[in-house]
Amino acid sequence: MTRTGTTGNDRNSFIYVVAALAALNGLLFGFDTGVISGAMLYIRNTFELATVFGYSMNASLIEGIIVSGAMIGAIIGAALGGRLADRLGRRRLILVGAVVFFVGSLIMAIAPTVEILIVGRIVDGIGVGFASVVGPLYISEISPPKIRGSLVSLNQLTITSGILIAYLVNFAFAGGGEWRWMLGLGMVPAAVLFVGMLFMPESPRWLYEHGRESDAREVLASTRVETQVEDELREIKETIHTESGTLRDLFEPWVRPMLIVGVGLAVFQQVTGINTVMYYAPTILESTGFANTASILATVGIGVVNVTMTVAAVLLIDRTGRRPLLLLGLAGMSVMLAVLGIAFYLPGLSGAIGWIATGSLMLYVAFFAIGLGPVFWLLISEIYPTEIRGTAMGVVTVVNWAGNLLVSLTFLRLIDIVGQTGTFWLYGALSVLALLFCYRLVPETKGRSLEEIEADLRETAFGADAGERPQVTKTDD
Ligand code: BGC
Repeated sequence: MTRTGTTGNDRNSFIYVVAALAALNGLLFGFDTGVISGAMLYIRNTFELATVFGYSMNASLIEGIIVSGAMIGAIIGAALGGRLADRLGRRRLILVGAVVFFVGSLIMAIAPTVEILIVGRIVDGIGVGFASVVGPLYISEISPPKIRGSLVSLNQLTITSGILIAYLVNFAFAGGGEWRWMLGLGMVPAAVLFVGMLFMPESPRWLYEHGRESDAREVLASTRVETQVEDELREIKETIHTESGTLRDLFEPWVRPMLIVGVGLAVFQQVTGINTVMYYAPTILESTGFANTASILATVGIGVVNVTMTVAAVLLIDRTGRRPLLLLGLAGMSVMLAVLGIAFYLPGLSGAIGWIATGSLMLYVAFFAIGLGPVFWLLISEIYPTEIRGTAMGVVTVVNWAGNLLVSLTFLRLIDIVGQTGTFWLYGALSVLALLFCYRLVPETKGRSLEEIEADLRETAFGADAGERPQVTKTDD
């Protein structure tokens, strides 16, 4: 599966091919996130939403089950995916995930009943759950340290691109109400990912951990310049033990601080409200005085801002480091949420105030896209030891999907109870908390190999004062 005997230039460009292809995992994730709101408008007209599996329910509850089915699937997929990535290997799990996602999309596209549609959503979600863990994990382990941040963040770039493509697909198929096409189109990136991954190598770190040193060397040789191969392999040998870790190892004293960081970031990435915008943007925009179609178009605008600022993050993240982007992003999100709350507080949302609300919504997304969006997925692929990296990422990703589900189920109800101003201020207050959390606890990982990060964490835990920020912050370039 690996390419050998290539020239120096080839080697550098091959790593970009590997990362770009693996980043299609993010496209599945993003497409799934963005497509359902548009499709739902027409699913209503195809099925009589009155009973599910023999139980009578009201239509909005059934719609809720269809929408959240994928998130429940993603929770299951992430819970299984971490462990499977450690057992089966990263590459093989990507292949499995692509097949599962493909089958889920197919089931949805041809679903004769609402029950089968729900089953399709859950299957599709399981594929997304696998993809969300293994995409960043695989890219992180196969990348050279100096460009690891950019390459892993390609996965967030494809998440945001997937959301934007889904908005455009919704727009394109809306006239005819062709929801089966909208959902079925997910089969295309899944098929490309599957075929492409057949030709990609396994992660060198996973190979070494499973006793396949010469295969690991071969992969490094095909993705690095020649002079780096033996150094990196030596570092891997010094750090990685050849027996897999277990869930219990996550609670080892030296891993625990990073478990807190990962879980904290996962919670904050969701409870600061990003997916209320991803799922409900047209609804929010309509209340700022936009007409129906204008609000759908402005939603596309939000998708474009999300992609553009993620491109900025990809370009910057290995230069500025992770912490500056994270802290700047969270500070910006806090301010924008405060402004948004004020705009909804003032009487009469039309005219200038409507524009302020729309502008602050866009800037809020921009600040997420340059910070918490990509940095969360990157950091959780960097801060855990190789033996339990998959398992640890699985746990953290489950928390992220559970937070996603919680926020999307409670958003409309929260608006009923505390109003729009109260809701955005609540997300704003949580963003301030997130800022303090990250300032205090999140380490810098820029430019360091995964093995150096691991060594630093051991040293900090066993050598530094409790409560001190992990000293991975030192950069030696
Ligand atoms: C988050 C998703 C979100 C997306 C928006 C991702 O990093 O995990 O929940 O929908 O960013 O761009």
